[in-house]
Amino acid sequence: MANPRIVVTRKWPASVEEALKKEFDVALNATDRPMTVAALKQALGNSDALCPTVSDHINADVLSAQPLRAGIVASYGVGFNHIDLDAARSRGLVVTNTPDVLTDCTADLAMTLLLMVARRAGEGERELRSGHWSGWRPTHMLGARVSGKTLGLIGMGRIARAMAHRAHHGFGMKILFTDPYPPPPEVIRGLAAEARGSVEEILREADFVSLHCPGGRETHHLINAERLSLMKPSAFLINSARGDVIDQHALIEALKTHVIAGAALDVYEGEPAVPEELKHMENVVVLPHLGSASSETRIAMGMRVLENLRAFFAGKEPRDRVA
Ligand code: DGY
Repeated sequence: MANPRIVVTRKWPASVEEALKKEFDVALNATDRPMTVAALKQALGNSDALCPTVSDHINADVLSAQPLRAGIVASYGVGFNHIDLDAARSRGLVVTNTPDVLTDCTADLAMTLLLMVARRAGEGERELRSGHWSGWRPTHMLGARVSGKTLGLIGMGRIARAMAHRAHHGFGMKILFTDPYPPPPEVIRGLAAEARGSVEEILREADFVSLHCPGGRETHHLINAERLSLMKPSAFLINSARGDVIDQHALIEALKTHVIAGAALDVYEGEPAVPEELKHMENVVVLPHLGSASSETRIAMGMRVLENLRAFFAGKEPRDRVA
């Protein structure tokens, strides 16, 4: 029997592509550019599995593909708000993601964002590289201290807990969190963390607010102008979750009018487009969705996709099934 045919929407690490090719008939998108809606529909019609990434919009239109040959959408990434799960279910498609393997790497990046914005690292590097550094002086580029400050986490899933671990045990930070599904009591004790009943309480109390909730309808523009106005003027907002959790226009206004001290972002509404204003503000760190971008992690994520495909085509329940 012929191997199942798999369409992979972007380039994968070489070792993962090789492993995939040993078991499947793989069609790679050699351009490594986003595939069009028509091409994604065609892939669903002429292959047994589609492997998109978190930057492919697998919406109801894509999932309305006729004919439909694919049985599984095996996504490369933990977030799945880029896939219309209801539409996938209605077409009988199984959907999988790649949790766990990117937790530490993404928490490392969230801490990087926090440190960069507090200690003005991007701004400092830009000054030095442009030849404008005039030497050490007591008042030069003073940032905000991190150690001992209060970190407020909105969402307390795997990545938030890993960030809390780094912040509390590495930087002596006090941890506050809010989550409708809080972690077990022993996890909370281990982080000396304190729960708060609302996003508003976190915003009022924290020196650094880090977002760790999923994207999608329920959290769309959770951080809006009104909520930003609750933050301390000295506080920083960190986003390594999903871009549309923040109303980007409200954030730009809040930064311009010094409602908050700064922001550090790895994700954007409508990315890869990033508003010019954000790119030009010195108190903003902008990274290009690097959360899970280490070689080890991206290989582990790819291997997890492979594991899900293998299970599906062996007639078993894939480990990371989300629909
Ligand atoms: C994911 O997997 O959802 C991340 O955003 C990728 O870094």
